[in-house]
Amino acid sequence: MLVAQSMATRLGEGRKAQIITFGCQMNERDAETMRGLLVHMGYTMTDRTDEADLILFNTCSVRENPERKVYGRVGLLKELKAKKPWLKIGICGCMPQQRAERQRIAETLPHVDLVFGTMNIHQLPELLQRVEAGERVIEVWHEEGDVVEGLPVQRLNPFKAFVTVIYGCNEHCTYCIVPTTRGRERSRRPEAILAEIRELAAQGYREVTLLGQTVDAYGNDLGDVDFAGLLYQVNRVRGIGRIRFTTSHPKHITPRLIRALAENEKVCEHLHLPVQAGSNRTLKRMGRQYTREQYLELVARIREAVPGIAITTDLIVGFPGETEEDFQETLRLVEEVRFDGAFTFIYSPRIGTPATRFPMEQWVPEDVAKDRIYRLIDLQNRITLERNQALVGQEMEVLVEEESPKEPGKLVGRTRTNKIVVFPGDPSLVGQFAWVTVTGAQTFTLEGVLTHSRVAAAV
Ligand code: SAH
Ligand code: SF4
Ligand code: F3S
Repeated sequence: MLVAQSMATRLGEGRKAQIITFGCQMNERDAETMRGLLVHMGYTMTDRTDEADLILFNTCSVRENPERKVYGRVGLLKELKAKKPWLKIGICGCMPQQRAERQRIAETLPHVDLVFGTMNIHQLPELLQRVEAGERVIEVWHEEGDVVEGLPVQRLNPFKAFVTVIYGCNEHCTYCIVPTTRGRERSRRPEAILAEIRELAAQGYREVTLLGQTVDAYGNDLGDVDFAGLLYQVNRVRGIGRIRFTTSHPKHITPRLIRALAENEKVCEHLHLPVQAGSNRTLKRMGRQYTREQYLELVARIREAVPGIAITTDLIVGFPGETEEDFQETLRLVEEVRFDGAFTFIYSPRIGTPATRFPMEQWVPEDVAKDRIYRLIDLQNRITLERNQALVGQEMEVLVEEESPKEPGKLVGRTRTNKIVVFPGDPSLVGQFAWVTVTGAQTFTLEGVLTHSRVAAAV
């Protein structure tokens, strides 16, 4: 109600807004809702800081680096605001959900006018109204309310859409801040999800990515549906050609879910399955709730059920107490699984998480952690390249995403296995499915030639 009332005031008329987003796809999807709310209020979106009247920093707390960037960039805006006193600056997303960061923002960034969190995005119009009336607004919810449906959304990509299916995270990984910043798991009702996806299909969307920090825990809090069941239902939506999802926690991958991956033809052959570490000692201290052996066995079962599936992962090095021997186990696991790709991170202590209470003498020095991450990246890049080279000569279905920004006359698309392919083709193919034969392979891209294309409407 409040949303509707305040939007009616068209507060943003004649004003330009910019949203600067850090972090994961959850944050990107939240930014689409904020854009939707702002556009409804009459704001025009811009990506130029110098012409914006409102700048929102949609922040990430998962590691120190993205937080440091926010302090740096917001700090620099002090000067701009001195020249443009009507400029409003807001900080939202994951940082304000932590008390320490909220205090630091309030105290060290006095030119910030608005602070809100991940659980009260729907209040944005009302909060902005208070800001424009002269108030400094710091309002962050910590209680997960009911899932709010029906908020406006403005997506930038016209044929690929993110659809959040579950909010929050109930896991207790000892290094991770996300459960603090996103709260307990709350699944959306399947009817609401399906209605959104049908609407997307009607608007011409071809691919949906179902989002959740533990997307495969979907439905555990509802009782009458699980993630496998949701996949079967989404698979039936006409017009949608591809279904992706992220991120899966290994412990929620059930035999039923593996069957759903194999049986639903629209579910793409790509699974992002973070393992984090290869040594059981580290996995246990991380609170991941599986062993190296269980993970390997899971990967084998998935590959047996879905031949050709690409498996990617996340890995952390330098976790407190990680010895060279533990790290060698991570390297061996990477060799054994032969992932298609991996995001690698150096452990970053997060205030209030259990791992920060591990004895200081166990902490891994920065130079050691850096050396480990370089060795890990070298290994994974070699494996990724080898796996990509093995695809040369194969014909693959590609969803054409854009004209190449670097190579005129070429198009960029993705295979069902989520690999990027660059190939010569006509720009009219953007947004359509095409068949491409792979002719060359690098670590991060494949090259190909068009074999034939089919119109997207035929899905
Ligand atoms: N929910 C997802 C992703 C969480 S954040 C999952 O469970 O996989 C994305 C990745 O960031 C994690 O998989 C982990 O590899 C990394 N990460 C999380 N906390 C971290 C920390 N404190 N330091 C370094 N990397 C971290
Ligand atoms: Fe963080 Fe673990 Fe939850 Fe992923 S599953 S968001 S790593 S606590
Ligand atoms: Fe970062 Fe928050 Fe996502 S901490 S990774 S933006 S859930």
